[in-house]
Amino acid sequence: MSAGYVFEGARVIDPAAGVDEIRDVVVANGTIVDGAAPEDAERIDARGLVVAPGLVDLHTHLREPGDEHKETVETGTRAAAAGGYTAVAAMANTSPVTDHAAIVHEVRDLATAAGCCDVFPVGAITKGLDGESLAEMGEMVEAGVRVFSEDGRCVPSARLLRNALVYAKAFPVEVVLADHAEDASLVEDGQMHEGAYSYTLGLAGRPAEAEEIVVARDLAVARSTGGRLHLCHLSSGRAVDLVRRAKAEGVRVTAEVTPHHLVFTDADLVTYDTAKKMHPPLRTDADRDALREGVADGTIDVIATDHAPHAVEEKDMEFDRSPPGTIGLETALAAVLTHLVAPGHLTLPHALAAMSTVPAGILGAVEHGGPLTTGRPANLVVFDPTQEWTVEPPFVSKARNSAFTGQRLTGRVRYTMLRGELVVAEEKPTR
Ligand code: DOR
Ligand code: ZN
Repeated sequence: MSAGYVFEGARVIDPAAGVDEIRDVVVANGTIVDGAAPEDAERIDARGLVVAPGLVDLHTHLREPGDEHKETVETGTRAAAAGGYTAVAAMANTSPVTDHAAIVHEVRDLATAAGCCDVFPVGAITKGLDGESLAEMGEMVEAGVRVFSEDGRCVPSARLLRNALVYAKAFPVEVVLADHAEDASLVEDGQMHEGAYSYTLGLAGRPAEAEEIVVARDLAVARSTGGRLHLCHLSSGRAVDLVRRAKAEGVRVTAEVTPHHLVFTDADLVTYDTAKKMHPPLRTDADRDALREGVADGTIDVIATDHAPHAVEEKDMEFDRSPPGTIGLETALAAVLTHLVAPGHLTLPHALAAMSTVPAGILGAVEHGGPLTTGRPANLVVFDPTQEWTVEPPFVSKARNSAFTGQRLTGRVRYTMLRGELVVAEEKPTR
């Protein structure tokens, strides 16, 4: 372990403490310290750079166990670190499914061995994601799980959601149920948003009401049970409206949106780019604008990647045979800086709250998300908000299915620090 580090003259943005100021950040023995640096601390010129709490992704697919040809815990967490993340929630649609404590421990142990980024496994709500019988939620909560989700699939019935929300309320810690809101009966073979572009391109549609119906259902069930609901990757403007109204009524709900839904629309599919095929699909200009507005006014709490790695040979198929998903960990911060912060849709402190402090709170990741005060673990991202780069393979991720490929983005992660150790230095992973 190094004696310590000093990031000199950085812009420190610490949403949890309401801080946005220019100063040094001193790290010693893995923690933030106030005052003088140790004699032999490494000094890093951080003038012009931002130091913030390490990013926290509430929605990552790491694919291990079961789909190691797409990604592994090691490659996925290395990609996370490269993107400035110090913690990620690993979705449960692995094989076998993360539906009991042994898999939770397995995934976490793999992450500890890799040492790049903390991993918080998400538990499945039902056994094997069968949508019927509740998984071993109790033993997973004991193993530290705080978020449960069927992601990739929608909770199929109001009754199941109600049972799970009521059951979850009985735990001594707050447990959150995160739903992938798409009514299965309306999206069966759908390839993209149903609308003018799907008709032109000749692709089967996934209509916006598939999301709106489930969001309305879930909000009604959360309201009546008092359970704690989270809505994954919203894509429809009307769904944002439903969440806005429910929050005003005091329903216990949080919501997330991905960088790709904040940037792209269905018009971007005219090239049949399979990297832009995902569930839920990219929708219209009006939806994208409503999502931006939803983040800006706090209706949407979290920006999460839905990092969904797939192998080249899987994505390199006819559009309707290619699996849904885009990777996102390495581009999320730059995409948000370029498309939300630079044009003035969102302040930088607000963006960092939505990408770190707020998701850390939902996940129960108490060492992450700030505040960056004395004695706290030094989990940090250090980035240059002005550096331009072009997104192109190879990626640190094993996969290369990025919707952002070819885009010029502004904002580059220079260092990521996990408990006082540099896991990324001068843009390169160290582990
Ligand atoms: O596009 C997606 N891909 N959406 C999901 O919900 C699941 C994910 C995956 O696992 O590939
Ligand atoms: Zn999903």
